[in-house]
Amino acid sequence: MAQKTSRDIGPVVLLGPPGAGKGTQSKRIMERYLIPQVSTGDILRHNVAQGTELGRAAKAVMARGELVSDDLVCEMVKKRLCNPDCRRGYILDGFPRTAAQAGWLDALLDDKLFDNSRPTRAWPIVMSLDVDYNQLLLRITGRRSCPTCGRIYNVHFQPPRVEGICDLEGSRLVTRNDDRLEVIQPRLAAYEEQTRPVADYYQRTGRLVSVDGDRPADEVTAQIFRILEDQHA
Ligand code: AP5
Repeated sequence: MAQKTSRDIGPVVLLGPPGAGKGTQSKRIMERYLIPQVSTGDILRHNVAQGTELGRAAKAVMARGELVSDDLVCEMVKKRLCNPDCRRGYILDGFPRTAAQAGWLDALLDDKLFDNSRPTRAWPIVMSLDVDYNQLLLRITGRRSCPTCGRIYNVHFQPPRVEGICDLEGSRLVTRNDDRLEVIQPRLAAYEEQTRPVADYYQRTGRLVSVDGDRPADEVTAQIFRILEDQHA
């Protein structure tokens, strides 16, 4: 496990296609810098599992591998960022994912949407995890996760000690509903059409740092930590 530090790194945005390793790396940043992971996918899946109004609106869209509407997702993110645990910073995992979401986030951080209850003011470090297409397919089809603690495994790259069982909780590992082969293609297409322009936008405005996400997970983590330390040196 990474050494913990209370060093203030402010907000972090992790961009990257499905299977790039955003969730895996978010958890490691969270453990080291003690800031929360705000994963829009996890929050949506939780709402689907709980059968909330938001979950009912998102369920079919997610099952098709498409993106949930900007209005619903932005409202959900705003609520989450108002939580006091985000005051020192947070990791946005899976957000922003459309040009509209990126514009909304800029406005939020520019203080137009928040007054007294706003989260930390600092602009985020935006990192893009770049991964080869065939590697993405292997990562997505091999992913398993623990329904109890959320730990992510991979049958090819990061297998549990006992097949199908979480090392920490002993729970039976599950496969995500949208990791089925027929849903992977629409998810990757949604990334190319709607999210790649977001990365291009951050690139144009000089705010994007590229990370070689093809490397083994520990090496990717080391590169991310170096970037975070350098940016805040
Ligand atoms: P979301 O949950 O965000 O899924 P995603 O973006 O498709 O990303 P994944 O969770 O599939 O991959 P990841 O990059 O986190 O990779 P991981 O670390 O797990 O979104 C799901 C759905 O919710 C969307 O399709 C949409 O419908 C909706 N949604 C979410 N946010 C939205 C938004 N903002 N707007 C609208 N709709 C939204 O790693 C993958 C696997 O690879 C794991 O098995 C892992 O062990 C392995 N692995 C990781 N790193 C490495 C490595 N370096 N080497 C080898 N294996 C590795």
